This record gives sequence, C-alpha cells and structure tokens, in this order.
Amino acid sequence: MRRLAAAAATVAVLTLAACSGGSTDDDDGTAAPGGGAETDTIVVGFSQVGSESGWRAANTKSIQDTLTAENGFELKFSDAQQKQENQIQAIRSYIAQGVDVIAFSPVVQSGWDGVLEEARDAGIPVVLTDRAVDSTDETLYESFIGSDFVLEGEMMGEWVSENLATEPIKVVELQGTTGSAPAIDRKTGFETATADNPNVEIIASQTGNFTRTEGKQVMEGFLQAHSDIDVVYAHNDDMGLGAIEAIEAAGMVPGVDIKIVTIDAVKDGMQALVDGKINYIVECNPLLGPDLADIIKAVVAGEPVEKRIVVKDEAFDQAAATVALPDREY
Ligand code: AHR
Repeated sequence: MRRLAAAAATVAVLTLAACSGGSTDDDDGTAAPGGGAETDTIVVGFSQVGSESGWRAANTKSIQDTLTAENGFELKFSDAQQKQENQIQAIRSYIAQGVDVIAFSPVVQSGWDGVLEEARDAGIPVVLTDRAVDSTDETLYESFIGSDFVLEGEMMGEWVSENLATEPIKVVELQGTTGSAPAIDRKTGFETATADNPNVEIIASQTGNFTRTEGKQVMEGFLQAHSDIDVVYAHNDDMGLGAIEAIEAAGMVPGVDIKIVTIDAVKDGMQALVDGKINYIVECNPLLGPDLADIIKAVVAGEPVEKRIVVKDEAFDQAAATVALPDREY
C-alpha cells in the first residue's frame, strides 16, 4: 500500500504531457539529445545505489515495474555497486544522452554539487529518491521522495528505551554505508531518542555496509571483543540477519541471549521477527516507483512538485509481524 504524506497530493493525479526539448530514441536504441517531442515517451535515466540488500531489490523492482513503456516511460537503468564514482559517471552519461529526467538514489549524501550543476546547465531536471544529498542549493534538484531516516532511528530508540532499557543494557550498532543518509540519520535518531535514558550504553558501532555478509563479519568481531552484549541495533534487516548467523555460530540464541532490532521490514526480516530471532523492526518503505513516476510526470509537465515528499513508515513487534507477513509485498 502506498502511504504518501499529504504533501504529495499535488502530484497524485497528472496528465502525461509531451516532452519539451527531450530526447527520443533512434532506431538502434541510441538516444538523440534534444531530438524534440516525436513521441510522448519520457526518457528517464536512473542510477541505483547497488544491490546490497533485500530492500534495494524491492526498490529496484518497484521502479522497473513502474517506469515502463506501457506507462509512458523509457527507463535507462544503471547499478552503481555502492560506488559514488559509478553514479557520477552514470549521471554524466545520462546528460550526454539528453534524457528528459535523471533520477537517482545517492549512495552517500555529500559531493554531488558538481555533477548536479552539470545536469542543471544541460536543462535536465533531477529527482532524488530514497536518499537525500546535503547540498544547500535546492535549485540542483526538483524533488526528493523517501523515508525520514531520523524518524526511523527515533522510533527504534524509543522502543528500545521503553522495552529493553528498563535495566542497564549494552548495545552494539551495525551502521549502514559510511557517509550515506540512512546511516547518518538512523544513528542520530537513535542516539537522540535514547539520550535521556542512562540505561542505554552503545559500546561499539561499526559499518556493515548494509549487507548481510559484512553484518555477519562485523558482528563476529563484536562478539570476540565483548562478552556482555545485550542488544544489536542494525541499520537494516540484512545486517541484522548476518548478525543472527554470527550469534548462532557463537552458540547463543538470537532474540533471546542477545536482542536484535533492525530497520526495513523486508520479508526475510519479518520472518525472523515472527520466528523470534529479531525483536522489533521499524519499516522503511521501498515501493517508491509509483510516486516517482507521478513526480517525473509532473516535472515534465511543468507542474509544481513538493521539494520533499516523505513516505510514512510503520513499526512491527512479533504480533504485528505475524499479522502483516502473509500479505507483505516485499
Ligand atoms: O536507503 C535505504 C537503505 O538502503 C535501506 O534501509 C537498506 O536496506 C538499503 O541498503
């Protein structure tokens, strides 16, 4: 189910307009920059972060399932493999091809001004999805759509504080990709929400790069260095699932001997919550494709769009996950 904040209503119902000064494809599939509006197809260049997690797979599917020829789009899609230089290269390639709109989910939040200025100079509007940039120049992009990562961290911190930190607890944190908006914001939100509770002590914090493999490796290191871990706070489900493997390999029971809380609520994470191996999950909704399509159509039509559109996220304990899992889309 799509749950957009009310602010998104302005772009909800739009008529597809012909692209002005956009690109059309040659017979060989090569885009022709500035080729005029021979068709109503909107050519979108999308640079994805990578394929690091179940969340990312669901997000990619949502975008590829929505920005289809049937819906009036030609999608040029690239996977940056979690490298900023690959994203910058992809964006430059989309500029050279003269796409109508560039959309991307920035792997890290800094260092985008140069390439975004190049897009602006070329007259190609940019839409940010999922992750924001820290640029102070808001003319560099048309709109951002995604979750409030600080709020996600706060929701988690509040739950941990109220449900686990009624006595002193030692927490280890598996951070997302260093420099990424979700890693920075989820850390900030959690620390803010637990700041007033002296029972919460974060004894170690390290990146697991949002992957299951690195989450497991980092958790193995935490277990070797600390014999008194009470709680794992993982910035996504995949790292939490990696931590489960490390805890089980160390002869302990995840969810019981060491509590685990994560963010995302993808199917594998929700199953682990139902199984009692994860204790609480804050959702991050990856199904951004339909709203991204509406925003892009609005931008191309010259309609006003909100600068920041926040998707509403829920949270799940075991009982709520048991109810939600059978109908889970991702
Ligand atoms: O930016 C969203 C985050 O990126 C998701 O929480 C995580 O799973 C993904 O890698």
